[in-house]
Amino acid sequence: MLPRCALWSGHVLVLVLCLSAAEDFDWTENHRRSFYYGTFPAGFSWGAGSSAYQTEGAWDKDGKGMSIWDAFSHKKGKIALNDTGDFSCEGYYKVKEDVSLMKALKLNHYAFSISWPRIIPTGRKLDHVNERGIKYYDDLIDLLLENNITPIVTLYHWDLPQFLQEKYGGWQNQSMVNYFDDFANLCFERFGNRVKHWVTFNNPWSIAVEGYETGEHAPGLRLRGTGAYRAAHNILKAHAKVWHTYDAQWRNKQKGMVGISLSGVWGEPVDSTNPRDIEAAERFFQFFMGWFATPLFHGDYPPAMKEYIGKKSALQGLGSSRLPAFSPQEKSYIKGTCDFLGVGHFTSRYITQKNFPPMRGGSYFTDRDLAELVDPLWPDPGSEWLYSVPWGFRRLLNFIRTQYGNPMIYVTENGVSEKMPCTQLCDEWRIEYFKEYINELLKAVHDGVNVKGYTAWSLLDKFEWDEGYSERFGLYYVDFKSRNKARYPKASVQFYKRIIAANGFPSQREVDSWKRKATETCSASNQRLAAARGKSWESKGHAEIPKAWPKHDEV
Ligand code: NOJ
Repeated sequence: MLPRCALWSGHVLVLVLCLSAAEDFDWTENHRRSFYYGTFPAGFSWGAGSSAYQTEGAWDKDGKGMSIWDAFSHKKGKIALNDTGDFSCEGYYKVKEDVSLMKALKLNHYAFSISWPRIIPTGRKLDHVNERGIKYYDDLIDLLLENNITPIVTLYHWDLPQFLQEKYGGWQNQSMVNYFDDFANLCFERFGNRVKHWVTFNNPWSIAVEGYETGEHAPGLRLRGTGAYRAAHNILKAHAKVWHTYDAQWRNKQKGMVGISLSGVWGEPVDSTNPRDIEAAERFFQFFMGWFATPLFHGDYPPAMKEYIGKKSALQGLGSSRLPAFSPQEKSYIKGTCDFLGVGHFTSRYITQKNFPPMRGGSYFTDRDLAELVDPLWPDPGSEWLYSVPWGFRRLLNFIRTQYGNPMIYVTENGVSEKMPCTQLCDEWRIEYFKEYINELLKAVHDGVNVKGYTAWSLLDKFEWDEGYSERFGLYYVDFKSRNKARYPKASVQFYKRIIAANGFPSQREVDSWKRKATETCSASNQRLAAARGKSWESKGHAEIPKAWPKHDEV
């Protein structure tokens, strides 16, 4: 179901595919489109997520230092409509209210991130620790626990202290490893008595590729063919160091776990009978999730990355591969440093083999020798890159199971967006997305994938990086134009709440009735929102509510 107000924008990668769908995995008897009624194992953890820069606001309050995202978003032309995260949802001031939203959903966990520059303003612990920043996270953690909500805490969701970027070049520089370890150690010391689930990095693929290769994200560097690989190399070392710090100094006392959260787009071969497409699809995975997971589980980069980047570097006449190498000591230090794997998943692609002749410099994208395609029939309600392909989720999870010896998994992000002008709270397309994706997750659990929890992305609408506020992922709508950043439940809140209460999908009759009830109740929220929007328009001297909602920058 598509949102009535969805925008149809030009697709980057849409190529028409006239192919019959590939066969399903052997290990499942369910037809790809069939719905599986059943429940998750007892104790399965249901949550929702957020991240510091995307929701907190208060960018310069109470002693917080500047992050690379503050600096980047303050530059003109970097973010849609020149939006910034300066205020966002004002989550910094709304801890009580937001925890009550979580309670209304009956969440078992809340996944959020700590802003490094909020607690260490320059990024270097030796310079200064900001106690007011620590207090904010102390209060949040305490309130969650008082309400029986387990905190799952990410240490790095992209907001590097700006000082570290300016002075050392950020993740291009190996010195980040020790600074990050000091920061993590401080978090273990101050919060680890209450936090038992630590995620070092969220989505390092984005940090490396979008931050240092394409420059779409902070710090906005375009170091094609080298920047992403170098950043990833230092991130992996930093992750391993933090894991060892926890293992040596805190694990016995605190009894928690340290993992990493990797994003994974599933890549299905265009032609599942063509070995070249099958290999290309595997390469797509290895250059994406395998880039980080293979060193952590097996001690080195995936062979496909070493082969392709090495080959291309040689053809460019370089003396060594653009992919840095780990020493034998580093390999054994990094291997086995993942107590659980966080998985962030939103969408899938079809993959076909495509040769890119080596050109000067090369790039992450051309190194892979493949093309990504999408089926134009896949629903595409919000973000341009996000097509709803539920079966890809199950395939991805099973692939992870076979690649890394069935690790413990927490799904740390899964969800769908709508475009900004959409003020429709009856988000049937999101209900459909959650229903289908969570059902594929249930099938994966039955396949034997060791998934312990699921996190809907995201609790609130929020700052969506280079897209600013133009894409909304929230279960709760945030009226960014209102002074108090009012939150309104979308219909998906009602639906998700019922999945949580039933721990899955008990029967067709029940699940159908949830959807009906969810969409019935949302019209009241729609009216409240419309009335509030009307008031804020009147107070600004507008006589009437406009027929179409104004765009974000027009009010
Ligand atoms: C993954 C990122 O970690 C998150 O911050 C973002 O909101 C979602 N992708 C959706 O784009």
